Amino acid sequence: MLQPHERPRGARVVVGAGGHAKVVLAALDALGTPAHAVLDDNPARWGTDLLGVPIVGPLAELATWPEVRAVIAIGSNARRYELARAHPAVEWLTVVHPSAIVHGSTTLGAGAMVIWRAVVEPDARIGAHAIVNSGAIVCHDCTVGEAAHVSVTSVMAGNAHVEEGVFLGMNAGVIGGVRVGAWSTVGAGASVVRDVPPRSVAMGVPARVIRTVP
Ligand SMILES: CC(C)(COP(=O)(O)OP(=O)(O)OC[C@H]1O[C@@H](n2cnc3c(N)ncnc32)[C@H](O)[C@@H]1OP(=O)(O)O)[C@@H](O)C(=O)NCCC(=O)NCCS
Repeated sequence: MLQPHERPRGARVVVGAGGHAKVVLAALDALGTPAHAVLDDNPARWGTDLLGVPIVGPLAELATWPEVRAVIAIGSNARRYELARAHPAVEWLTVVHPSAIVHGSTTLGAGAMVIWRAVVEPDARIGAHAIVNSGAIVCHDCTVGEAAHVSVTSVMAGNAHVEEGVFLGMNAGVIGGVRVGAWSTVGAGASVVRDVPPRSVAMGVPARVIRTVP
């Protein structure tokens, strides 16, 4: 196991040691490019491991690893967004699980994650640090903004758009041509049939905005 003081050049580092980090570690394993280390801000976890990968220190350490290649595997969209900005020199790994189907015309931003059996159709654009989670379907010409999260089994029909920081709940759907504004949340199981303004929480079938957030 890697010791806390060891920082090999070009190491692959996973940022965060929560549930989503397990998913990302498993994807890296499946790709044959396992992570060398995990960073997490909870000191109680330092010296332990996540799926066999050592948790070696706090997130602030990222800047001290030479030529590090990292992925921010934290579920909070806002946190991934902030951390990416806090570490502009890091090379962010884009992680596509081998079971996912991603068409070659798709653009995947730095640090984007496409998890088990997700589908990303032609000409979709997935933003930096966005998550397309297990079983989600992002149809042709969709855009998924930076640090957005298309949760497990949710579906975006052709030319649908979720902007920066959007959280699309599990099993939710967005019909074609519709846009969910930046930093909005769409509840699990919702069906979005009209544009959702930025910083709103929408839920239900059809989805209705129930509140806005500052
Ligand atoms: C929509 C959501 C964000 C609302 O969270 P919240 O503001 O904390 O809402 P609450 O749990 O306090 O529920 C408020 C009301 O909305 C209802 N509600 C909550 N989520 C709902 C949903 N997805 N669809 C329909 N109604 C919902 C609750 O039953 C409750 O109704 P009541 O006042 O009649 O009892 C959340 O419930 C949700 O769906 N999150 C998505 C989680 C997810 O998909 N995770 C995937 C991880 S990969």
